[in-house]
Amino acid sequence: MELAEADAGGAPSHYLACMSCHGLDGWGSPATRVPAIAGQSSSYVKKQLLDYRSGVRGSQKGDKWGAQMALMAQPLSDDDVAQLAYHLAEQPLWPGAIPNAKPAPKAALPCLGCHSKDRAGWVTSTAPILWGLSSDYLFRQLVAYRQGDRGGAPPGEAPDPMAGVVDSFLSDQVLMDIARYFANE
Ligand code: HEC
Ligand code: HEC
Repeated sequence: MELAEADAGGAPSHYLACMSCHGLDGWGSPATRVPAIAGQSSSYVKKQLLDYRSGVRGSQKGDKWGAQMALMAQPLSDDDVAQLAYHLAEQPLWPGAIPNAKPAPKAALPCLGCHSKDRAGWVTSTAPILWGLSSDYLFRQLVAYRQGDRGGAPPGEAPDPMAGVVDSFLSDQVLMDIARYFANE
């Protein structure tokens, strides 16, 4: 346990299993479609890990990227999830997490209220930071929200605020424009 903690740079030992994909720093890798997770709020990370574990996220047919994560979340206990979320929230944000200086495409304007341009807003908001995540990853998430594959909730819990935000009539092109804007491309 002590050795594992040292190897992971003070991270909980469970983070060792995450490093091969998300990296020691949690900055992910656009090349392998793995998102950055360091510096996101602990409540956001916690909810994602619980959603993957319960199958609300990552179990839909054809979601091969989500399936990788669903598998990773299976063995985690509630305590493991809480520790990982707390650890990740304490880590520095990935270098690309900088608000885009360009004007937002019209379809992205309603998003900025929650996915703030303001760094201070990020700390208290449960909405994740989108700036500088890869456009490929963001596009995939938006398509998943559009088709109802993401945004559900376990029985008895409220669906997440993104359910219904991405209108079914938004085209792939519009979703890609939004994704590129947040990706700073
Ligand atoms: C085999 C590679 C792999 C491993 C190992 C892995 N992940 Fe992931 N992770 C991914 C991929 C790919 C995604 C994007 C999945 C999707 O599209 O839903 C992801 C997504 C996530 C997300 C959601 C990010 C967001 O912005 O919503 C979190 C949180 C996360 N991983 C945490 C972890 C933790 C904690 C571990 C270790 C217990 C871990 N991952 C291990 C590949 C991996
Ligand atoms: C009412 C507040 C709100 C609005 C408005 C909103 N979002 Fe979100 N968004 C959230 C929250 C909260 C989450 C986390 C959902 C969860 O817990 O799974 C989220 C998650 C996301 C994610 C997943 C990020 C990741 O790392 O996987 C993307 C992408 C996203 N939103 C894009 C958008 C876009 C694009 C718009 C505008 C069309 C938008 N959001 C509008 C609150 C909002």
